[in-house]
Amino acid sequence: MARSKIALIGSGMIGGTLAHLVGLKELGDAVLFDIAEGMPKGKALDLSQAGAVEGYDAVLKGTQDYADIAGADVCIVTAGVPRKPGMSRDDLLEINLKVMKAVGEGIKAHAPDAFVICITNPLDAMVWALQKFSGLPTNKVVGMAGVLDSARFKHFLAEEFDVSVEDVTTFVLGGHGDTMVPVVEYSTVAGIPIPDLIKMGWTSQGKIDAIVDRTRKGGGEIVQLLGNGSAYYAPASSAIAMADSYLKDKRRLLPCAAWLTGEYGCDGMYVGVPVIIGEEGVEKVVEIELGGEAQKNFQVSVDAVKELMEACKGLDSSLA
Ligand code: APR
Repeated sequence: MARSKIALIGSGMIGGTLAHLVGLKELGDAVLFDIAEGMPKGKALDLSQAGAVEGYDAVLKGTQDYADIAGADVCIVTAGVPRKPGMSRDDLLEINLKVMKAVGEGIKAHAPDAFVICITNPLDAMVWALQKFSGLPTNKVVGMAGVLDSARFKHFLAEEFDVSVEDVTTFVLGGHGDTMVPVVEYSTVAGIPIPDLIKMGWTSQGKIDAIVDRTRKGGGEIVQLLGNGSAYYAPASSAIAMADSYLKDKRRLLPCAAWLTGEYGCDGMYVGVPVIIGEEGVEKVVEIELGGEAQKNFQVSVDAVKELMEACKGLDSSLA
């Protein structure tokens, strides 16, 4: 059976890490596409040589030519610019919107059957624009944010409870910005919801509130520490989990920025909600009941995404 083909549109920090994971996890062959000359080819060569040590046989190719992504099963999009200290994700809108147009057209022309995972920020607006520009079916275009934000929440909770991260389940919904919604009621340690763990005296409401706040600002904390760019290891791992669920038809239930047509009271937009990812792409949007506070916060987050969509429409009339 032919190996899967994974096109990485953008071969910067996340793109390179994605290619490494594709090799290590034997997910298939990877094409590293970028507008930068030389760099994608250099990374492909370096990573191929890493394969000689690690024992993976993935064919890794660097390119500046969209024709090389032809027939891709999955496209993971990181093209654009990342944040610098002091910037919000929203500050990237204007420049990254132009990039989404070029990328959307490239995918439409060369890989229209692919499952497309967008990582470029500001995520919810960019994945929406990418779907419009590419014209691909909405179930085949998703945004990666919820898996990452949930992983951050999970890590902080595992530290707080001093338990294995494997036993922590979390849900972070809404837009991928400061208004994201870590849903405490649906987050558990081995099935025990956080509110029960507070009652059991294992932690305090104050500590959980602080973790929720740190999760919301999790990306910014890393931008500040790195000083020159944004997180890339966890974002890459998160997108790979989504690609893996699609390629292996695992039907994992993951929080992703998905196209909504009435679910959660949202119509005609992308926002982070739990979805099942299988061989058809997004196969189901899972509607969980949100409690009063989470519902209120979710709405604030949705409104923030809508504002960004309006800003995009102002910048590119084809989106209006
Ligand atoms: N087409 C293809 N690649 C492009 C284009 C384009 N039109 N414009 C820029 N790029 C490439 C850059 O040359 C660069 O190599 O996108 C790559 C982005 O890589 P990095 O700058 O290292 O950024 P990275 O950390 O990978 O983040 C990428 O993901 O999480 C988000 O906010 C982050 O929007 C950012 C994106």
